[in-house]
This record gives sequence, C-alpha cells and structure tokens, in this order.
Amino acid sequence: MSRTLDHLFDRNVAWAHAKTDADPHFFRRMAEQQTPRYLWIGCSDSRITANDVLGLEPGEVFVHRNIANVVHTSDMNILSVLEYAVEHLKVEHIIICGHYGCGGVQRALVTERGAMLDHWLQPISMLYRKHRAVFEAISEHDARLDRMCEINIEMQVRRVAQTPIVENAWARGQKLNLHGWIYAIHDGLLRDLGPHLSSVAERDALPSIDHRVLNPNEPMSALRRQALDAFSSLSLDDMASPPCCMPALDDGAAKSPRKD
Ligand code: CO
Repeated sequence: MSRTLDHLFDRNVAWAHAKTDADPHFFRRMAEQQTPRYLWIGCSDSRITANDVLGLEPGEVFVHRNIANVVHTSDMNILSVLEYAVEHLKVEHIIICGHYGCGGVQRALVTERGAMLDHWLQPISMLYRKHRAVFEAISEHDARLDRMCEINIEMQVRRVAQTPIVENAWARGQKLNLHGWIYAIHDGLLRDLGPHLSSVAERDALPSIDHRVLNPNEPMSALRRQALDAFSSLSLDDMASPPCCMPALDDGAAKSPRKD
C-alpha cells in the first residue's frame, strides 16, 4: 500500500491535464480571482459535493460543510465563511442544503450522548425531544428520519437569517437570498424546501419552527415544478375535456378549476 498516496497525485495530474486540454486558460483564470454567486452550506457526507450536485465549475460556488449542516452562531468557522462570502465575495444566494438519510441527524435522534458530536448536534436533538410525540407518530423509521432532515434544514435557514452578518447585509440593501434545499442521494436530485428569505421582514414573518413541525413543507423537485408549470399553462378548455390517456395528477396545487 502506498504511504504517499501516489495514486491521488496521479489522478490530480490527469485531471489538471484534462482541464487544460479543454480550456488552455482555465488555471490562469482561476488564479486571478474567484467570483462565486453562491454560498453552499451542506453536510460533510462524502456523497454530496456542491459543485457536482449543482453542475458548477471550480470558482462558481463557495462552500462550507459540516456534519448535518448545522449553523451554530458561536462557530467561528461558519461565521468566518459567512462573513467572507457576504461582505467580500458578495454572493447573491446562500443555499443551506441537507440530505435525506443524514447520519448526523440520525445520531441526534438516539439517546446515546457524551461524544463531541452530540454537542454539535444539540440543536437537532433538542428540537426532536421537544416534539418527540409528533415525530414518533411517524411509524416508519426512514420516513421519521427524513422528516427530521427536512425540519433541520428549515431551522438552519432561520439561524443563518438571524446572524448580524446577514441582517447587516439586508440593512444596507445588499441583494442576498437564502434558500433551504434537500438532496436525495438515491436519485441525485435536489428539492426546494424553503424558506426563501431576502429581507428582515420576510424572516420576521416566518412561522416558528415549532409550527413547521406540525405543518410540514412539501419539498418541490425541479421535475415536479416543471410538471405543475406545464399543467397550469393549459387552457381551461384543455382541462374541461382531457384526453383519455392524461395521467391523473394527485397534487392539490394541480387540481383543475371547475368550469360550470
Ligand atoms: Co449528512
């Protein structure tokens, strides 16, 4: 076994050659500056890398990752990243993206305590304890975990929105949008979960996270949104006499209006 990880250096050389072959000025351009429009706050899970998931090149997304994408307002690491991204890079969008089946969130739901990790996951475990009856009413384990993964993202978006860094950006009129997304490892697709925030007023108008536990948001994949957009663009006449083979849409938002 190699002690110097030569195979990774070999892969690096191959990658750099491929990049240069495709775009001779790629690294020169990279060396000059970075101008990402997005800050990604995601889980450290090795299966989810922001650039790959978003289909973006190096230089296009600034990234912070930790276990279970938790935002601690006493964490110098994330606050430094946030400050640099907002005040110097002037990113326009902050994406807090968790994922279904997150091992960190799973850890927060068990009773085992005492590791450093359990301190890190404390906000998730406290929310779970507070609403244990609601979550435990979801009988299937994976569904319960996934619901907790969703609510964790909504909670972390709120925590980013509460930082003075984001508040000050909004106060000085800087364009800054916050997004809560969730990624499914089994199909490689992102879902928009919300909330979307672009001002202090929007943040302050949000329902509490406790309300969200009781009234969950419906995640929206791009495929589902496209289907709903296509359906809503149909004319009323089209809807009045659908073709016999038209698939039934079971989504409430896609119900056709009655034409009496
Ligand atoms: Co995870």
